[in-house]
Amino acid sequence: MKSEEIVLTMRDISKNFPGVKALSHVDFTLRKGEIHALMGENGAGKSTLIKVLTGVEEFETGDIHIAGNDKCIVNRSPQEAQVNGISTVYQEVNLCPNLTVAENIFIGRAPRKLGGIDWRTMNARAKKVLQDLNIEVDVTKALENYSVAIQQMVAIARAVDISAKVLILDEPTASLDESEVEKLFDVMLALKKKGIGIIFVTHFLEQVYKVCDRITVLRNGTLVGEYEVEKLPRVQLVAKMMGKDFDDLASIKKPVEEGKQSKKQEVLLKAEKLASLGKIKPFDLAIHKGEVIGLSGLLGSGRSELARTLYGAERVDEGTLTVGGKKQSVKAPIDAMKAGMAFCPENRKDEGIIADLSVRENLIIALQAKRGMFKLISKEDQEKFTEEYIKILQIKTADMETPIKQLSGGNQQKVILGRWLLTHPEFLILDEPTRGIDVGTKTEIQKLVVKLAGEGMSVMFISSEIEEMVRTCSRMAILRDGVKVGEIEEADISQENIMKAIAGGDEHA
Ligand SMILES: Nc1ncnc2c1ncn2[C@@H]1O[C@H](COP(=O)(O)OP(=O)(O)OP(=O)(O)O)[C@@H](O)[C@H]1O
Ligand SMILES: [Mg+2]
Repeated sequence: MKSEEIVLTMRDISKNFPGVKALSHVDFTLRKGEIHALMGENGAGKSTLIKVLTGVEEFETGDIHIAGNDKCIVNRSPQEAQVNGISTVYQEVNLCPNLTVAENIFIGRAPRKLGGIDWRTMNARAKKVLQDLNIEVDVTKALENYSVAIQQMVAIARAVDISAKVLILDEPTASLDESEVEKLFDVMLALKKKGIGIIFVTHFLEQVYKVCDRITVLRNGTLVGEYEVEKLPRVQLVAKMMGKDFDDLASIKKPVEEGKQSKKQEVLLKAEKLASLGKIKPFDLAIHKGEVIGLSGLLGSGRSELARTLYGAERVDEGTLTVGGKKQSVKAPIDAMKAGMAFCPENRKDEGIIADLSVRENLIIALQAKRGMFKLISKEDQEKFTEEYIKILQIKTADMETPIKQLSGGNQQKVILGRWLLTHPEFLILDEPTRGIDVGTKTEIQKLVVKLAGEGMSVMFISSEIEEMVRTCSRMAILRDGVKVGEIEEADISQENIMKAIAGGDEHA
């Protein structure tokens, strides 16, 4: 390896949080014009490494070098990192939606002329910056007119226009659909051609194998290794992330497969011609006791809306809902909760965590709401429950009083899942419960779902990962453009059949 190819070197980086060794003597190198995947399970230290690099967190040992600068750099803030050539684009885009695309690209550095901003030059430059990345948008329109995906690409364009050496993308694809991901990859490849080094954090293995050149794997805050993508088969990567052997991994799948049998028992919940206008067209759906019913469809096909309609989180305009043989009027989530339902939402930032409260408080909150505020759960019970769920879900936290915002993304997700499991619902809706969760824990959650169903709980499982659906569901409903277009019985559930049904064409899917 020629040294001039390297654009960034991080050496011997250590960072501790109270009770957690987040990074311990980690090395990382990034070459010019490469896309480098940073991989590891939840809590492995990926985001922390990035925060150290971008000056969001201080570090205790180690040094950072960047090409073109002989001295070690210490970034004390993201702004300083940017001056040093390092930019980050987060999943939640940090731009101003009501300003134009061009303004967003040039906030704080707009070209000026006598009497103010030189709009003409600014718009022309913005257009050029975007065209270089093959992004066609009207730069004079407000950013809010564009999808999250486009907004993210504008953020990327801005970042690389400011400092064009290192670009960091921390889980940028989590909320994008397939075609948007493709477009993002095009942009990444265009940047790669320009010689920019890209650090890419994702939990989607197939994405890594599609666009990345090298992989660095972290585990429990330590470096496992650095690999060329083509020399590291997928299973090996997974094994390295989990710190496990191959054979261990092979055995993970079995319990799920064995436990998966739909016992066609009594109907627990029945929707007849239920509809929420503009969101989901009238649909019929019966959910039996002890089954895992999967909802599949492209992003935006109405999967979440269907679930939200059952749960009273979406206004019901038509139809009836019967729960346990009784007609039920579910006008709000609290009605649904009282009727034995629970909903673990997809969007943990907006609907899920309460950032400043502890793990314990976040976990207990739904059960407390269900019982009513006059029957307070004793501190003792709270602690007992929390301990139990930290163990079951393998939640990585210093202790149960840690504010949830200090947990890694995936571990926050687990707390939210625990929150709803704790209410012992008869019917549990899980909307993308394993998104952002690492492979090992994913399997644990899948197993848990199948086990709970085995014990009589009915589960609605929504996931974009078809493989996960095949493993977990005993029946599936397929959605397309807000319409429930069909169901698949257990015997017919396969990746191929699901894909076909989602894609459409065959009306009997
Ligand atoms: N501000 C903080 N205070 C205390 N502990 C923290 C803080 N930030 C991170 N940690 C801990 O450091 C460890 C590494 O977390 P980090 O966020 O880097 O993980 P990650 O690899 O990005 O995981 P994920 O895939 O879940 O996003 C975790 O155990 C986490 O709980
Ligand atoms: Mg992270």
